[in-house]
Amino acid sequence: MNKRVAILISGGGSNMVSLVQSMTGDHPARPCVVVSNVPGAGGLAKAEGLGVPTACVDHKPFGKDRERFEKALNDVLHAHAPDIICLAGFMRILTPDFVAGWEGQMLNIHPSLLPLYKGLNTHARAIEAGDAQAGCTVHEVTAALDDGPILGQARVDIAPGDTPDTLAARILPFEHQLYPAALRRFANGERTPIYLG
Ligand code: GAR
Repeated sequence: MNKRVAILISGGGSNMVSLVQSMTGDHPARPCVVVSNVPGAGGLAKAEGLGVPTACVDHKPFGKDRERFEKALNDVLHAHAPDIICLAGFMRILTPDFVAGWEGQMLNIHPSLLPLYKGLNTHARAIEAGDAQAGCTVHEVTAALDDGPILGQARVDIAPGDTPDTLAARILPFEHQLYPAALRRFANGERTPIYLG
């Protein structure tokens, strides 16, 4: 039976689109819901256009109460009974308790060559450091931020004159290749990393 995949987004959802579009034919998984923490996030309309159920759990009314936000998020997720959760540009930090509830089932894509540059402003930090390469990483989500076993990585050269925006634009198409490839392998029970670029 196909695995059920929930995808969490906060923004435009281009990675979500590439994941949804990959889950056809002999793919071992199918999307079951796209959830945003931002009302009106561009990715919600895209998911609807692709025929995937959507939901929104706005984090704002919960203020600093992460546990209550995550309880509401979990209520939506459990209603769709996912086997796998893909964070795809989901910009909320999740508590260790929430992560523990989905142990071994949750993936994330992060725009850096982890373990380098956890957190935000990854491309600016890679350029600032004078790195020769940058890229993106798909990893299993564990309690520590942007940590956890690496399932795939794609690298690109940093060119002279690159800005965070030009670098992000060059890396994004690699994200769209890497995440579907890593998800397909993960859904098939493969944990060895895949490397692109
Ligand atoms: C992607 O570049 C993703 O790697 C990044 O947000 C972007 C979302 O774009 N994720 C993070 O920074 C997570 N910390 P998308 O909404 O078009 O997929």
